[in-house]
Amino acid sequence: MHPLEKRNLLPEDLKPLKNIKEYIAQGGLEALKKARAMDPNDVIAEIKAANLRGRGGAGFPAAIKWAGVRATPDEKKYLVCNMAEGEPGTYKDRYLIGKNPYLVFEGMLIGAYAIGAKQAILGTKDKFKSTVARLEQALREFEQQGVVEKGFLQIHLGPDDYLLGEEKGLLESIDGRQPMPRFFPPFMVGVGVNATETNPTVVNNCETLSHVPKIIQNGAEWFTSMGTEDTPGTVIFTLSGDVKNPGMYEVETGLTVRQLLYDIGGGPRGDKEFKAILSGMSNRMMLPEHFDLKIDFGTLRNAGIGLGSAGFIVYDADRSMCEIAWMMTKFLAVSSCGQCIPCNSGTRNIMEHFENLRNGKGSQNDIDMIRDISGRCTQQTRCFLPQQASIVSQSILNSFSEEIQYYAENSDTCISDDLVVPKIQDFDEATSQFVYEKDPKEFRPEFDVLY
Ligand SMILES: Cc1cc2nc3c(=O)[nH]c(=O)nc-3n(C[C@H](O)[C@H](O)[C@H](O)COP(=O)(O)O)c2cc1C
Ligand code: SF4
Repeated sequence: MHPLEKRNLLPEDLKPLKNIKEYIAQGGLEALKKARAMDPNDVIAEIKAANLRGRGGAGFPAAIKWAGVRATPDEKKYLVCNMAEGEPGTYKDRYLIGKNPYLVFEGMLIGAYAIGAKQAILGTKDKFKSTVARLEQALREFEQQGVVEKGFLQIHLGPDDYLLGEEKGLLESIDGRQPMPRFFPPFMVGVGVNATETNPTVVNNCETLSHVPKIIQNGAEWFTSMGTEDTPGTVIFTLSGDVKNPGMYEVETGLTVRQLLYDIGGGPRGDKEFKAILSGMSNRMMLPEHFDLKIDFGTLRNAGIGLGSAGFIVYDADRSMCEIAWMMTKFLAVSSCGQCIPCNSGTRNIMEHFENLRNGKGSQNDIDMIRDISGRCTQQTRCFLPQQASIVSQSILNSFSEEIQYYAENSDTCISDDLVVPKIQDFDEATSQFVYEKDPKEFRPEFDVLY
């Protein structure tokens, strides 16, 4: 283990836990007992004092969500764990479940107790077969040991769509429909709504909820003694791309981007320096000028970039940013569900203009149109996906203007064979290499047909 790593969530020796007995032997389920003996408001107060921020991308404080839903007068409330893990370059939730599926269930039960939930549901993808098998085994053991009554904890298996991870899309899927984001947020319109019930729901990411048991067990002070004041604790990074040591690394926040890339990541894979990092589809490109920043939500946000779900896709100087812009905007256009016109046509148009530039058919008009559409495609939309297309494309136009301009003025192409949307299918721990999905999605008619 590298000296900069710190394992709170992952087992110290990285050996997967075999069964609930091993979990209990390591102190598992103590936190749940402790929480159930506390007043639910005190549980929320502990999570607040720990300043636990959501690890699903936005870093929103978990305690604010919990307190908000607890305070609603509604009879039925739900807690949902988001384990859709659809963000390109992210594998942390499946990695964590592979090592220890018990933590997240214990965290869900503590959260459900704190907010007064009727049920706790973990939403994931049907295609994550080995992860689902791990979760199902752990759930059976929880039920057999009498930790939870049958039916209270559920696993929902959804389709392979990026929007399954969008919290309003995930709730639609749990309610038996396509994951097309609804209008109202989960704390207003939750699971299983009908004419008389709105069922406020907390949605938290799998890693967020996995932090909960140890915070309750060891106390908020223990948690805030790690990492930064802004984002205490640890974060699990998925480090992929043109870096010597790609892999999964749990670290305390507060280390610098440079420490992550060079000390842990080993520096560039080839003889070219790093050019840019994509730290999630909602963030501007991270550039070498950002490498000495400390990693936490606040510091990166203040610098105009972001931590996202800590999936860092690293590109070296050989990579074409025009190609990357096309690839990522195509991923978003393909993923749009089409309910909102500005997003439906806007994301596709942005992708088509990048395609012209990439294919040697570009002109100044393409650049102008991308700027124009990326300013408009976000209007009156139900979710953040078109903002993502806007952020990624404007960031690349601004930070790599000369490079993109070149393709507007010349008929050269920038088509590369080995650049893929890094949708991670698996991680080979023996070789520390990621396996990517071979067949990235094309435009599909399913959503349109159903709508
Ligand atoms: C298009 C899109 C995809 C998303 N995918 C995921 C995902 O796969 N997993 C996840 O936890 N959050 C995802 N999110 C963020 C969720 O909507 C939500 O903010 C998160 O689950 C909240 O959990 P947290 O507060 O614990 O971070 C996505 C958001 C958008 C806009
Ligand atoms: S903004 Fe786009 S992806 Fe989100 S709901 Fe509307 S059409 Fe679907």
